[in-house]
Amino acid sequence: MATRRATNIVWHDHKVTRAVRAAAKGQRPAILWFTGLSGAGKSTIANALESRLLRLGRHTYLLDGDNVRHGFNRDLGFSDADRVENIRRVGEVAKLFVDAGLIVMTAFISPFYADRDLVRNLVGEGEFIEVFVYAPLEVAEARDPKGLYQRARAGEISNFTGIDSPYEEPESPELILDTSKLTVEQSVDALVDYLVKVGLLSVG
Ligand code: ADX
Repeated sequence: MATRRATNIVWHDHKVTRAVRAAAKGQRPAILWFTGLSGAGKSTIANALESRLLRLGRHTYLLDGDNVRHGFNRDLGFSDADRVENIRRVGEVAKLFVDAGLIVMTAFISPFYADRDLVRNLVGEGEFIEVFVYAPLEVAEARDPKGLYQRARAGEISNFTGIDSPYEEPESPELILDTSKLTVEQSVDALVDYLVKVGLLSVG
C-alpha cells in the first residue's frame, strides 16, 4: 500500500466554497447516519425521509449499503476489515456530498462504534446525526425481508451481523427509533421534528 500511495499532491482551494454551495441550495448540509441490524428498517426509513425532505424542497442524497455494494464497493465482503473499509469509503463520500451542500442519508449496518465515530469526526459539529434504527434481533430475524437470516442460521452465510458477527450499539446516538414500536411514518415524523429542533430544517 505505502509504495502506491500518492505523495506529491497539493490541496486546491476552490473559489466556490461549501458555504456558497449550501447557500445556493438554501439549506444546511448534514449527514443522517442510519445504523442498525439488517432488517431493522434503515433503508425503509431513510427512503421515506428522503421523500418527505424532497417534498419540503430540500436537496438530498441517499447512500444505501446494498446498492453501494453493487458498484463502488463491489470489491468488499463482510469480514471485519472489509466492513471497516466499506464505512471508511462511505464516510468520505458522505463528506464530499456535505461539501456539495446536500443533506445525505446513509443506510449501512455500520456495526463498529469506532468506524461510525471516525465518520462523525470527518465533518463539523452538529453535521453528523447518528440515528440508531433499533429492532430486537428476534424482530429483525422474523422480518427477514431478504431471507438472509434463515440462510445464516442454516450456515449458508458466514459473518452475518447479529448471528456470528457483532453489532456494537451506539452509545449516545442523536436519535433512537425503535421500529418494533413505531410505524415508518412515526419514525419519519420523529426525524423531521429533530431536524427542525436543531435548525437543519424549517417546515411551513
Ligand atoms: S456493513 O456492515 O458493511 O455496514 P452493509 O450495510 O454495507 O454492511 O451491507 C449489509 C447488507 O448486505 C445487508 O442488509 C444484507 O442485505 C447484505 N448482507 C449480505 N451478507 C451479509 C452479512 N454477512 N452480514 C450482514 N449483511 C449481509
